[in-house]
Amino acid sequence: MPARSSGRGPEALRRLFSTRTPAFRAVVRTLEKLIDVDVNVLVTGESGSGKDYVAEALHVCGVRAARPFVRIDCSSIPPDLFESELFGFEKGTFTDAKANKPGRLESVRGGTLYLDEIGGIPAALQAKLLRVIEQRQFTRLGGTRPIELDARIIASATDLEPRRQGSHSLRGDLLYRLSVVTIELPPLRERVDDIAALARRFARDAAARHHRPRRPLADETLALLSAYPWPGNVRELASVVDRAVVLEDGSELTPASLPRETLLRGDALVASASRGLWTLAELERRYALAVLDSVGGNGSRAAKILGISRKTLIEKRRRWGRAERAK
Ligand SMILES: Nc1ncnc2c1ncn2[C@@H]1O[C@H](COP(=O)(O)OP(=O)(O)O)[C@@H](O)[C@H]1O
Ligand SMILES: [Mg+2]
Repeated sequence: MPARSSGRGPEALRRLFSTRTPAFRAVVRTLEKLIDVDVNVLVTGESGSGKDYVAEALHVCGVRAARPFVRIDCSSIPPDLFESELFGFEKGTFTDAKANKPGRLESVRGGTLYLDEIGGIPAALQAKLLRVIEQRQFTRLGGTRPIELDARIIASATDLEPRRQGSHSLRGDLLYRLSVVTIELPPLRERVDDIAALARRFARDAAARHHRPRRPLADETLALLSAYPWPGNVRELASVVDRAVVLEDGSELTPASLPRETLLRGDALVASASRGLWTLAELERRYALAVLDSVGGNGSRAAKILGISRKTLIEKRRRWGRAERAK
């Protein structure tokens, strides 16, 4: 959870997301516009790309910050408990209802309702939830008293592709209602320029948490972290750095403290980078050329993957070409 002490407003939001990647900068600019308006926001992105972080950042930087942030993990609540968990119930509604119980929606009280992984909302409840979101009121199961839903609603989804047969999918009308604005988070491999800053921040946090000295990341470590494709995204980076902070004996965080089985495995580029102890510039050049190669030399596609503009890529290639010829 982003620290509440960071303050409110767009400045505070920018601090939570200091980024050097153009694609992510565009995301942050959109988020700035959303902190103080109540439009429903859908955040999408791969697992670990920061969907919860974005939802919490919108909350702590917005006008509802002093109110509760209520996260409902739609994919982990058993379908038959979903309704009573959300709406609560009145005593005697069903056999186990021994007393009145307020639901999670009641606990929002002017704060943010975060519907995490909306693909997991049981099909049978989607129409009811849509109605509640539209009318901004609901009743407990077995109850008649209307209760106001005073909340900013944020939803997240990892993938909304049609589900396999037999499992449910999300109704279009509910999806449209929840996604007045959609924020698409790029995976970490498309934010290579942000990896060093994120790693430094996680190293600082981990040192404090584990009562270890603050140590810098060695250049080779940063080179390896920047070259790895991060299938688990920011979450994986955070845990790799956490582990390094705990295991490292030296005065810097070295490649020896990185998990060999994932980070240093196979990948030819990474393996030769660590053998050759390349500079970051050399690693950048070789990685960019490998990406270009993998997309058949298509400059626009390569630039998109690399998280830079096409113009920047052209300039870089020109510079590399000159350096080659000078050898
Ligand atoms: N921009 C960021 N700055 C710092 N930490 C981040 C950032 N984005 C994500 N994280 C951290 O990475 C981890 C995974 O993020 P999370 O929001 O849970 O991903 P998701 O919900 O997309 O699976 C969390 O520990 C989160 O705090
Ligand atoms: Mg999540």
